[in-house]
Amino acid sequence: MKVGILGAGGIAGVMAQTIRLMRENGCQDVELYAVAARDLSRAQAFAEANGVEKAFGSYEEMLCDPALDFVYIATPHSHHYEHIRLCARHGKHVLCEKAFTVNARQAEDALRYARRQGVLVTEAIWTRYQPMRNIIRETLDSGVIGAPCLVTANLGYFITPNRRIVDPALAGGALLDVGVYTLNFAEMIFGRPDSVRGLCTKMDSGVDMTDSITLEWADGRVANLTAAANSISDRMGVVYGTKGYVVVENINNPQALEIYDAKHCLVRRVECPPQLTGYEYEVLETVDCIRRGLLECPSMPHAETIHMMEVMDQLRAQFGVHYPCEDLAPDAWD
Ligand SMILES: NC(=O)c1ccc[n+]([C@@H]2O[C@H](COP(=O)([O-])OP(=O)(O)OC[C@H]3O[C@@H](n4cnc5c(N)ncnc54)[C@H](OP(=O)(O)O)[C@@H]3O)[C@@H](O)[C@H]2O)c1
Repeated sequence: MKVGILGAGGIAGVMAQTIRLMRENGCQDVELYAVAARDLSRAQAFAEANGVEKAFGSYEEMLCDPALDFVYIATPHSHHYEHIRLCARHGKHVLCEKAFTVNARQAEDALRYARRQGVLVTEAIWTRYQPMRNIIRETLDSGVIGAPCLVTANLGYFITPNRRIVDPALAGGALLDVGVYTLNFAEMIFGRPDSVRGLCTKMDSGVDMTDSITLEWADGRVANLTAAANSISDRMGVVYGTKGYVVVENINNPQALEIYDAKHCLVRRVECPPQLTGYEYEVLETVDCIRRGLLECPSMPHAETIHMMEVMDQLRAQFGVHYPCEDLAPDAWD
């Protein structure tokens, strides 16, 4: 299956490396065929550096190539809605970076349109597709820590020098960039919460810089989450239960689990299975689902993508963070 990368920025390079490693490791199901940037020379430089066959100086030009099977969207959050619709209009399947769109209304509209066009669209939230997700689930289901009651998780990077993170016009802020992983971590463990509360500090530009989030479930379970764009955090996630707790190393690509008993003694350490980059799982599932004629991937169903955007909408309403691109009516993009 021929893949095109839309937007030649940072994560696009990591995806190019992932597909190259997949092929070197015997996966011939996927081929890095094309890249498109808003500027031809940037696309050509990316293609040369990453061994990509075709370079296009406009996104639409790449989408007109009949040989292209699916597109990896690697642009800022503010542009995902427009770019998903553009791909769908050209009949191309989509793997779109997180945060999926800027709000739930955009997510619903883009997914409805893609279904009408008969193309698969899926959110590139890599932790949902990785084998560690099931390893964590099986560990908790085994009862080794008793009944899980509380989750804590944090994710922070020093990314405020990056314009994409600061600029409201690019839907910047900690929540959509890194907070989304803490929310996905908590909800992969406890499911959908009954209440969502948050507060934040802001950058001078008005977007959120550090977020404190509390999710609650009616039966008393709680998740306390922290996201930061101005500091480096230890990225730990911990699930606390009635008989012990599980520590997850790096919720943004879990590398190991450590299980502790009620006396704080280490019971077991479980390592992550070997990875190429960790992004290969979302690519493999996308290819498999396209082949099977599905319009969504089971690891991240459309309903979950929309739900995560609804949770972030609620949080941003509480934070008082609003993006200029939200004021455009959906049909203004056509
Ligand atoms: N899954 C992960 O682990 C992970 C990690 C990092 C980022 N991400 C996600 O990937 C997406 C891109 O992030 P990134 O860090 O790769 O960003 P980046 O380095 O800034 O690249 C974004 C690309 O978007 C294109 N673009 C189109 N319109 C633009 C505009 N108006 N302003 C700026 N750029 C525009 C540009 O490509 P051209 O000019 O070349 O067309 C640019 O190179 C975001 O959704 C982010 O959350 C995911």
